[in-house]
Amino acid sequence: MIQLAVNIDHVATVRNARGGINPDPILAAKQSIDAGAIGIVCHLREDRRHIKDADVVALRHDLHTKLDLEMAAKEEIIRIAEKVKPELATIVPENREELTTECGLNIAADPQRYAELVQRMHDAGIEISFFIEPDVKQIETAHKIGADIIELHTGTYSDAHGSKAKEALDLLVKGGAIAQELGLKVTAGHGLDYHNITPIKSIPGLVEVSIGHALISRALFIGIPQAVKEMLLLLE
Ligand code: PXP
Repeated sequence: MIQLAVNIDHVATVRNARGGINPDPILAAKQSIDAGAIGIVCHLREDRRHIKDADVVALRHDLHTKLDLEMAAKEEIIRIAEKVKPELATIVPENREELTTECGLNIAADPQRYAELVQRMHDAGIEISFFIEPDVKQIETAHKIGADIIELHTGTYSDAHGSKAKEALDLLVKGGAIAQELGLKVTAGHGLDYHNITPIKSIPGLVEVSIGHALISRALFIGIPQAVKEMLLLLE
């Protein structure tokens, strides 16, 4: 079965709208885990627009589960990761103007820089994943620089319809097959929801999906435990 990691950023977005403590992202994380999620994902952005430093620390201390810290390859955030020691650091591109992560990271453009980051994370006992497009050059670079995992960007597939969605899915399937051959662990995420998740299961070697917005949106109406359970049923 493909595992589910729940991204709780948007619980923090709602909390931050009023600057108080509710709704509590840590409680959302606990409920997700109790309902069967394998881990929790949070993105500590440079602008701290949703998850804050204290949330990452609380998640680390309060949850006995896999924590995946999504982050840009920026020195300030790298140092926080080294201190907090999540099980996994997922490296994403980050642009202050974007509403959400818009594309995969171009690690092939600067393999030396990312190889050094792999080394730093490994020295801190943290696994490292790169959020990349299903592109052979990016996947081979991830393998070459010693990444543990690649997270395939599913945003293009999620935004597309009809034959375009099929084309995007074919690329993801090809990317998964290449990664699997190279021995990389494959995960996927961005824009996945209750309607588009099923075809994603055909990606070879896919072990986990990372889902935030659709799941937290559904949870507003039916609660987090039920929203997680419904997604897990679709992943079976
Ligand atoms: N994976 C990565 C690398 C992301 O940046 C995001 C968005 O924060 C997600 C997965 C989850 O995307 P969504 O909120 O659309 O499910």
